[in-house]
Amino acid sequence: MITTKTPKESLTILTDMVLPAETNALDNLFGGELLARMDRASSIAAQRHSRRIVVTASVNHVVFSKAVPVGSVVTVEAKLSRAFSSSMEIFVDVWMEDRESQERTKVNEGIYTFVAVDRTGTPVKVPKLIPETELEKERYDGALRRKQLSLVLSGKMNPHDATELKKLFTD
Ligand SMILES: CC(C)(COP(=O)(O)OP(=O)(O)OC[C@H]1O[C@@H](n2cnc3c(N)ncnc32)[C@H](O)[C@@H]1OP(=O)(O)O)[C@@H](O)C(=O)NCCC(=O)NCCS
Repeated sequence: MITTKTPKESLTILTDMVLPAETNALDNLFGGELLARMDRASSIAAQRHSRRIVVTASVNHVVFSKAVPVGSVVTVEAKLSRAFSSSMEIFVDVWMEDRESQERTKVNEGIYTFVAVDRTGTPVKVPKLIPETELEKERYDGALRRKQLSLVLSGKMNPHDATELKKLFTD
């Protein structure tokens, strides 16, 4: 098995438009539709890294910073930010493209955690991730803290054991 990979090997880019059936009462992209697109892109990124079956373990942080009107062209970019033993953190950035100027505006971001599993659903090991760019290193460095927060919130970790999380308040 390949033991290390870089973030760009998992990069997944989905571009699609917003159709009327995918909007809310204000004719903007419905949040659940955007979450589904983000889940699909991050799932593919996790599969590209692990080359295994992957399942969504948690959606840790989603920010809807701008409304996306019907007819917009939306690009969802997903890339691994860190791999642990069987789990992988994926950053998803969402962009809207102006029809005339082609200028891109960031409209949303989210952080997903996927777990690689075998056919019985048992977690399996994944390759380590080696970050390359400054942004990749920054996201890699914060990933353990976010993993601990997610585990604490889901009741799977005792807050006293969340060493990285505690550093936020003690450093
Ligand atoms: C995700 C799942 C495989 C984890 O199984 P589990 O029995 O909790 O297994 P473990 O405790 O060994 O955890 C496996 C990994 O997931 C991580 N994990 C589990 N819950 C997590 C959470 N809420 N947030 C972040 N990471 C989590 C663990 O830290 C561990 O990571 P590591 O191996 O990299 O250290 C299991 O809960 C599951 O199958 N859930 C349903 C998934 C699903 O149906 N998703 C929607 C459709 S794809």
